Amino acid sequence: MTTRENVLDALGSVMEPTLRQSIAALGLVRDVVVRENGVSLTVVLHPDSLGQSEAVERNVTLALKNLHSGTPHIRIRAMTDHEKSEMQAKQGGQASAPQSSQGAAPVKGHAAGLETSPLLAPGSKTQFIAIASGKGGVGKSTVTVNLAVALARSGKRVGLMDCDIYGFSVPDMMGIEERPVQVGDKIKPIERFGVKVISMGFFVEDNSPVVWRGPMLGRMLRNFFAEIDWGELDYVLLDLPPGTGDVALDVHQILPHSKEIIVTTPHATAAFVAARAGAMAIKTNHEVLGVVENMAWYESRSTGEREYVFGRGGGGLLAETLHVDLLAQFPLGAPENHPAEPDFSPSVYKADTPTGREYLELANKVIERCGN
Ligand SMILES: Nc1ncnc2c1ncn2[C@@H]1O[C@H](COP(=O)(O)OP(=O)(O)OP(=O)(O)O)[C@@H](O)[C@H]1O
Ligand SMILES: [Mg+2]
Repeated sequence: MTTRENVLDALGSVMEPTLRQSIAALGLVRDVVVRENGVSLTVVLHPDSLGQSEAVERNVTLALKNLHSGTPHIRIRAMTDHEKSEMQAKQGGQASAPQSSQGAAPVKGHAAGLETSPLLAPGSKTQFIAIASGKGGVGKSTVTVNLAVALARSGKRVGLMDCDIYGFSVPDMMGIEERPVQVGDKIKPIERFGVKVISMGFFVEDNSPVVWRGPMLGRMLRNFFAEIDWGELDYVLLDLPPGTGDVALDVHQILPHSKEIIVTTPHATAAFVAARAGAMAIKTNHEVLGVVENMAWYESRSTGEREYVFGRGGGGLLAETLHVDLLAQFPLGAPENHPAEPDFSPSVYKADTPTGREYLELANKVIERCGN
């Protein structure tokens, strides 16, 4: 028989979009009634979250699915002013996990941990930036890796989550061969070029394919928060898989305040497809920081002349469509790094190369826009 505690436990994974904590831990799940024919409850949301009440309702329904207690009856209402100020007082004054005024059970099970991750704590200043695209192969991972390194070179404390769970490429791109170790009950990310990195690639034997399905993906992403000892960070960059699939939605659920950078190639059609990723970011209330156009042109070494191999103008067009700035354009090319170097990486540009300098400029723009 399902109990009220079971219900609250299950809802430990559902975030209040504005307050960035579990609705159960915040005591925002009220009026829980468990009957034979189903569960009924009220979710109280911050007024700023009402635009996302459908998403919350969906997440509650999903979270309760495993209880097999029939179709839940979910009511959603906004906090009263009084509840809001109470919540603010509580959040301002607390250092650790919040106590529910209702005495909600502590969060247990696989969903636990998001609340305990300092990166997601209420006062956390960590900025999350997801790097997205409409199509695969446009250079998301390349841009993520180099922007992360450039932010670190600018003195920021940076984490990189390779959220492409099937198609992880970050370890290879950064030339990481070692594997993370467990210290106490947490895993230490690998640090390379001043960036703390975690990737599914670290946990897969012999590069064998990952065949997990939907729910596991979400859990993996949660584990990236719950199980990893990130320490304090100014920025976390998330390298997303291509398109607008499950992982992008998970990122939205876990990180409602994440910002996004959209990567496209200069081809008009590519920009059109990328606009979908932008539209999704806007729909999920993610602020789009801007557009990066990759593979913008080929520059002749002898004459310096630019050839627009993949067309021209896609990045600008996309930026216009999304009402954001075109933050950077990177030419075709690859870093001239040598495998004999002790910190060899195939994809990270050195700081004193033209593209390396452009990535530093991009990092500066990002810092300016994030105010961090
Ligand atoms: N500016 C560039 N010039 C030439 N090659 C590039 C450039 N940027 C990226 N590449 C190469 O293109 C390929 C795809 O890049 P990358 O993996 O960064 O794209 P992606 O969008 O992350 O791909 P996926 O959708 O598969 O995750 C890689 O081999 C990368 O080295
Ligand atoms: Mg990639």
